[in-house]
Amino acid sequence: MLFHLALLSLVSSAACQDLGVPLSWREFSNNRTLAQRITIAQNAINQMTPQLNSATGEFNGLGYWQSGNVWSVLANQDHLAGTTTNKALVVNNLNLVFSRWAHYDQFHSTMMQCLFKPNSVLIQNIDSLPKVVGPSCVIRIPCLWRMSHSYGFNLVNNELQDTNLLAHAVDVWTHVTGYVITAAEASARKQPNKAFTIESTCNGATMAGGVFWRPTTDDTSVNSITTGLSAFLADYTKNATYTSAAILSANWIKAHNINANNLVLDTVDAADCSTSPATWLFTYNSGKYIEGLSVLAAVTGDSQWSTLMINILNSAVKTTVWQGSNGVITEGASPSADNDDVGFKAVLIRGLGEAWIRNTANTALTTLIHSYGDVQYNALLELAATGNTYSSSWLGPPQAFTSWGQLAALDVLTTNILTN
Ligand SMILES: *[C@@H]1O[C@H](CO)[C@@H](O)[C@H](O)[C@H]1NC(C)=O
Ligand SMILES: *[C@@H]1O[C@H](CO)[C@@H](O)[C@H](O)[C@H]1NC(C)=O
Repeated sequence: MLFHLALLSLVSSAACQDLGVPLSWREFSNNRTLAQRITIAQNAINQMTPQLNSATGEFNGLGYWQSGNVWSVLANQDHLAGTTTNKALVVNNLNLVFSRWAHYDQFHSTMMQCLFKPNSVLIQNIDSLPKVVGPSCVIRIPCLWRMSHSYGFNLVNNELQDTNLLAHAVDVWTHVTGYVITAAEASARKQPNKAFTIESTCNGATMAGGVFWRPTTDDTSVNSITTGLSAFLADYTKNATYTSAAILSANWIKAHNINANNLVLDTVDAADCSTSPATWLFTYNSGKYIEGLSVLAAVTGDSQWSTLMINILNSAVKTTVWQGSNGVITEGASPSADNDDVGFKAVLIRGLGEAWIRNTANTALTTLIHSYGDVQYNALLELAATGNTYSSSWLGPPQAFTSWGQLAALDVLTTNILTN
């Protein structure tokens, strides 16, 4: 009988998620008008842009991938507000950054300041720590995809071609493809860009579809954030090559990197199948997967991807790993110094925005996204704001402007144009 009950609850939780909004959440609605929300978000952007270094296309006080996330949210702002206010700045600077770093790949640099370790120590010289795994600067790539998406609505006018962004996206995709494990490579246990023997399978599942996070020949780590980036290109171009790549990588994450609570894990070592600690749970890993699966479900029409996405989303917004029972995200609250995890929560929020766009008929889901977004929005506006600038600690207290606090807030303010 006990067994029977356990089985029943497993089945029902898989088939029918409870997408209800926890009543313990703090202020999960907001009555600001669309025009007010557009203004609030653009005002916050206007506090960020003076930090632009026009020689590099990056922002003072931020790491490289974090700067990429600023460009991403500026593009989204135009997309959601129906404006081109930020467009020239975005396009010109993306072209600049692309001209400075082939394939936008800054990774060969030996001096970077955005590697994150569990103890939140900032590491200056990444190459001195070859075995450190975890979120890194390489995650700039998804930002580009998002930007291509935002300026993709005028495909009929060849706007993406005009701005080079589609060409950039294809270039990056082609570059990254060299670090994806194909089915044949998994079988042969040999990846052409890696100097070690790879595992064909880990825990019984093929390693095909995994993406190495660093190009160096001795780096063995495959992680979630470098994986699953192809869906937007598939959506635009309808080219099946991108769809197949997206499915392969979505399956890799599904098989290897989701925990029992439906949260996306960080890293698997392709040389020995060891994994990052179970406690390495970051908003952005689930956030990027939610975003990718939302697009993939739309591109393929295969409901397994939306079911999986909804399970992960429901867990991500309710877990106590990165928020209290009031629902306000506490990850990456760092008033006095920047570090890599400050910007992670913005990536989750962006993923929720994509889930909304692709699932407007699912009112239980959109109500949940709306409510969670408003919890963060109200916390920022009421607990963490000084004028139009925001602390990275969303529970407050307010403080003077920091680039990283502003970066973390931008996606909440902009996504709320859509989801409020
Ligand atoms: C909107 O919300 C604010 C703050 O909760 C409240 O003071 C105000 O009365 C509300 N306005 C409307 C029109 O509901
Ligand atoms: C589809 O995309 C692949 C990878 O970028 C490319 O090699 C191929 O030419 C594309 N096919 C078409 C029909 O455009």
